[in-house]
Amino acid sequence: MSLRVSDQNCEPRHISPLRDSFQRPMQDLRISVIDRCNFRCTYCMPEENYGEHYSFLSKNDWLTFGEIVRLTKLFVQLGVSKVRLTGGEPLLRPNLNQLIQHLGQLAGIHDLALTTNGAFLSGQAKELFESGLCRLTVSLDTLDEEIFQRMNGARGTVQHVLDGITKATSAGFRNIKINAVIQKNVNDGKLIDLVTYARQAGHILRFIEYMDVGNCNHWKSTAVVPSKTILDLISSRYPLIPIKPNYYGEVAERYHFQDGQGEIGFISSVSQPFCGTCTRLRLSTDGKLYTCLFATSGTDLRTPLRDGATDTELIDIIAKVWHKRNDKYSENRYLFQALTSKPTKIEMYQIGG
Ligand code: GTP
Ligand code: 5AD
Ligand code: SF4
Ligand code: SF4
Repeated sequence: MSLRVSDQNCEPRHISPLRDSFQRPMQDLRISVIDRCNFRCTYCMPEENYGEHYSFLSKNDWLTFGEIVRLTKLFVQLGVSKVRLTGGEPLLRPNLNQLIQHLGQLAGIHDLALTTNGAFLSGQAKELFESGLCRLTVSLDTLDEEIFQRMNGARGTVQHVLDGITKATSAGFRNIKINAVIQKNVNDGKLIDLVTYARQAGHILRFIEYMDVGNCNHWKSTAVVPSKTILDLISSRYPLIPIKPNYYGEVAERYHFQDGQGEIGFISSVSQPFCGTCTRLRLSTDGKLYTCLFATSGTDLRTPLRDGATDTELIDIIAKVWHKRNDKYSENRYLFQALTSKPTKIEMYQIGG
């Protein structure tokens, strides 16, 4: 039996009894399957820091599919019901469809999704769908080729990504999401083009506020375009109606177009942080567990796993981590504006957003 949920109303069926120190349940697991990426987005992996000779994790460091599946089963026992595969670029992980098949068969997972930059999607969409992947999110910040190249370090083309999305639709994926990170004076000039494209093609476009993830994107608050600004701009062309979240802790605020044609969302981690309902935990390619996108350290699960820890021992480690979790980075950024300490944070490509 393989998991198949045809649209995005994959609501978690149970709420974890395990709570963190702010009473937040554990619900969504994001698994980074590879730390490499074929793009060099300036806001994530700027070329000057991640050149040709940068040394990424070696294959021995990667959790094997068997290890990922074993850990995922344990996370499910603790409350996880949604799983998202991320990277770097997850489609660079060899034989990813085998992992998807295994995860899709795990009892208790009600939503299995993947976030990709879309560059390899054309060639892989069909097998991803046939492997049992429920949902797909594709990053696409602009339709303007020149801006696209500037933002991703001149790798890939808009057309590659659009072809990938078209192939994914033909393969059977529905309600594909498109994530666009918006930066002031970079790609905020042509947002309506993106909206018109997504609406016509039947995809759910989400605008993401540019965030201070990692340590090397030279983030400045002045480069953020608040969701409200984008909402006002779009509403003047396409009137919007707010709609309810799909599930507890959803990061995007959702809107329907008033004319009934489609949905759009806003992920406002800077202007309206959503830490209060954050149910996400992240597993890095080398098996470290992170409880926040802005974490400065993680808990190594790979060592105990490879040293022969029992399921009970692993569950105990994970439950303790969740129990004492007190992350609220975005809320603190919002409340205290400039954060005084600047510790070294995990990079986005290591935990996949
Ligand atoms: P679905 O609602 O299940 O489709 O998933 P999602 O919206 O969580 O998935 P997606 O990976 O598309 O998330 C969109 C983006 O929102 C991420 O890439 C991040 O940029 C941002 N985001 C997701 N989760 C968090 C979070 O916990 N904290 C912050 N600050 N940003 C997040
Ligand atoms: N701010 C906001 N979103 C980001 N992403 C990567 N880096 C940032 C950032 N600094 C997004 C990507 C992709 C997802 C994995 O994370 O665009 O959609
Ligand atoms: Fe860009 Fe995603 Fe690759 Fe980072 S992991 S460089 S955001 S495509
Ligand atoms: Fe969750 Fe950390 Fe993002 Fe807040 S900043 S929503 S705690 S991942």
